[in-house]
Amino acid sequence: MDERSRANSLGSPAFSRRTDWHLEPGVVSRAFAEARARGPVLDLTETNPTVVGLAQPAKLVPLLADDAGARYEPAALGLPSAREAIASLYRVDGYDVTSARIAISASTSEAYAWCFKLLADPGDEVLVPTPSYPLFDYLARLEGVRAAPYPLLPEEGFRVDVAELERRIGPTTRAIVVVHPNNPTGTLVREDDAAHIDEIAAARGLAVVSDEVFLDFVRAPIPAGLRASFVGPRAALTLVLGGLSKSCCSPQLKLGWTVVCGPDPAVGAALERLEVIADTYLSVSTPVQAALPAIFAARPAIQAELRGRVDENLATLDEIVERTPVLRRPASHGGWTALVQVPRVLEEETWVLRLALEHGVLVQPGYFFDLHDGGTLVLSLISPPDVFREGTNRLAALVHRVLG
Ligand SMILES: Cc1ncc(COP(=O)(O)O)c(C=O)c1O
Repeated sequence: MDERSRANSLGSPAFSRRTDWHLEPGVVSRAFAEARARGPVLDLTETNPTVVGLAQPAKLVPLLADDAGARYEPAALGLPSAREAIASLYRVDGYDVTSARIAISASTSEAYAWCFKLLADPGDEVLVPTPSYPLFDYLARLEGVRAAPYPLLPEEGFRVDVAELERRIGPTTRAIVVVHPNNPTGTLVREDDAAHIDEIAAARGLAVVSDEVFLDFVRAPIPAGLRASFVGPRAALTLVLGGLSKSCCSPQLKLGWTVVCGPDPAVGAALERLEVIADTYLSVSTPVQAALPAIFAARPAIQAELRGRVDENLATLDEIVERTPVLRRPASHGGWTALVQVPRVLEEETWVLRLALEHGVLVQPGYFFDLHDGGTLVLSLISPPDVFREGTNRLAALVHRVLG
């Protein structure tokens, strides 16, 4: 009896195959639960900016009480004032963007879903970087699409392997996703690689989706040879994603956006279709859109606080790495996470389990992000500095103990 018939015979509906997930907690989640049950932990996995003691993001919530948010005016791609506020953010940074090219969604994740609906039919595939953000498989699968990996090269600072990317383009490939800067490596796409990807995509009739949710947190100035935003004149249809969840440390406000770039006819056709997709859901709340100009006015203070936090934690980490020479921190350009390479005398997962269960420190293993070098830990740089300092000190102490 196949799974569907068995489900029917138990009085359950035949659930879709795309929701056929294995949901049992894995060994790391179970260890974290056990560590938490034993007492307070130092959580260096926390990337939710609303729970790490930042003062500035909380100041946004009262802005949602403006009367303008009380009146519902369904506008599929977003309220004109909100679309203009987003376009002007890009213009301030020197990009030529008009509000007509902006589509507002409830989050960047939703923007991904809309892009995949726009670009791919069920059974098609989108190329995604690896190592990277682990939600792609879910986002793609929920649209009936396959997320097929292309490699970033750790030995070259996680540079995109463009030749391999090109080899992996098949008859059902519809889009190339870049994460810029990437999560968790914090690395940017090089300018020459970006140009090459644009060329390949245009020649092969593919779109590019550039996830730039962490771009405001690149440590300035951007080193020569690395690309800033993918927004701008492009040969291929290019959908650039951003949102409040990272840029204003406010995932709970639920607002993301897509900037549609590329040749005018493709941009026009994409926006027409995106408008129907968005109109089907009308998922973005009016109060957050009405408040967007005021939210953006607070953005510099929010980002300054977050950058200060990240810089302080990075300095702590570099100090610890310097006095623990078996640890290494691969170079990165920005973002909210740091990689730390640990000696391979233990399995990567064993480091994670021992840190959690023996030392009350929670960190993620690199393999959660498809980083399969066997010895990388992923640390959240937005953790409270005292938690980060104590957690990384305990990591160094464990390293000393293991190495004798
Ligand atoms: C690289 C990247 N893109 C997108 C998202 C999702 O952002 P949102 O909260 O806007 O859906 C995340 C969330 O962690 C992320 O790390």
